[in-house]
Amino acid sequence: MKTRMTELFGIKYPIMLSGMNWLTTPKLVAAVSNAGGLGVLAGSQYGKTRIKDAIKEIRDLTDKPFGINMTLGIGAREAVPMVIEEKVPVFNYALGRPPEIEKIIQDVHAYGGKVIGTVAMLKHALRSQQMGADILIVTGYEAASHSGNVGALVLLPTIAGALKIPVIGAGGYVDGKSLAAALALGADGIAMGSRLAATKEAEAADSIKQIWVNMTEEDTVIDPTFDGINCRVLRNKKADELMTKRLPLFDVMWAGLAMKEELKLTYPEMIRTALNMRNMQAGVGGGKRKWADVMRFAIGGSLFRKATVGGDPVEGLLMAGQGAGRIKDIPTVKELLDRTMVEAEQIISEMKQKADG
Ligand SMILES: Cc1cc2nc3c(=O)[nH]c(=O)nc-3n(C[C@H](O)[C@H](O)[C@H](O)COP(=O)(O)O)c2cc1C
Repeated sequence: MKTRMTELFGIKYPIMLSGMNWLTTPKLVAAVSNAGGLGVLAGSQYGKTRIKDAIKEIRDLTDKPFGINMTLGIGAREAVPMVIEEKVPVFNYALGRPPEIEKIIQDVHAYGGKVIGTVAMLKHALRSQQMGADILIVTGYEAASHSGNVGALVLLPTIAGALKIPVIGAGGYVDGKSLAAALALGADGIAMGSRLAATKEAEAADSIKQIWVNMTEEDTVIDPTFDGINCRVLRNKKADELMTKRLPLFDVMWAGLAMKEELKLTYPEMIRTALNMRNMQAGVGGGKRKWADVMRFAIGGSLFRKATVGGDPVEGLLMAGQGAGRIKDIPTVKELLDRTMVEAEQIISEMKQKADG
């Protein structure tokens, strides 16, 4: 199957790995690229001191195209120059503000790299196209983690129909049925998040992979109290508590210091990060956020980490999408990508037969 996505990146299948903090390790990224998709590493967690090592590790494991996702703000800003110095084939930005995004796009294009923007609203999609992004990830309401208010059935054709550049559907894509649906809605490919994290090569704890296999499509909840931006997680006691409790200031302090330590930020960098986060909005728009939301980000970060790295889905918060309700097994990455393509191609040919009567 050839689409504008496969042509742009020089890959075999129109499938990419969604950047997911803590879950997209170099091993998983390389497995996706080696299987014919585009592996993407969420770089934010590595910070300025470890990102180059992570890129080297990917390059040691694959000679195929791969990408680095940077959630701008949240300590990632300090690491952006290192990613550009490494001339990674694909740079995927999320959040952020127009002036810094424009600069990134220029810098990546200068060495011949491609840029993916992540959006959840038409106005941000149009702005990203205008700034020069090569392709966009369009995140629907179904997705794990952050999204907007509109589901893929409406959002994908709205954005794909309004743009000249290609788009990739994200949020709820787990198999050939959903790939064929995304193509029918105007996308040139899909991004798989939770689905690729529940594979043999993924380094998430087995207990976490089992949650994705066992949960249903009804088991998630989306709310801004987890980290200050509308975020979808597995519904548990912790999620219910955060949705009703006042902001715990003591927890905020500890979470902020833990984040500083993880990202190896100096105190001035930490203050700059907090100021950046206050000025950052979901999508690529401008606008200020409340200090309470900035503080929630530190808390959310530590609870996401507790579930995703610590394997504790009871006291932690596990980001999960509605599509996890359709995950039923833990295949290898290659098995998953191959069967997704076979199923999608079969559905497309059956649809053609139906249309021909
Ligand atoms: C644990 C976790 C961490 C995530 N971290 C990031 C991130 O660092 N940057 C980003 O752009 N999106 C992040 N996301 C969102 C994914 O890129 C993607 O939009 C989402 O997983 C798609 O939904 P799906 O899981 O239903 O496929 C994260 C998702 C999960 C589950």
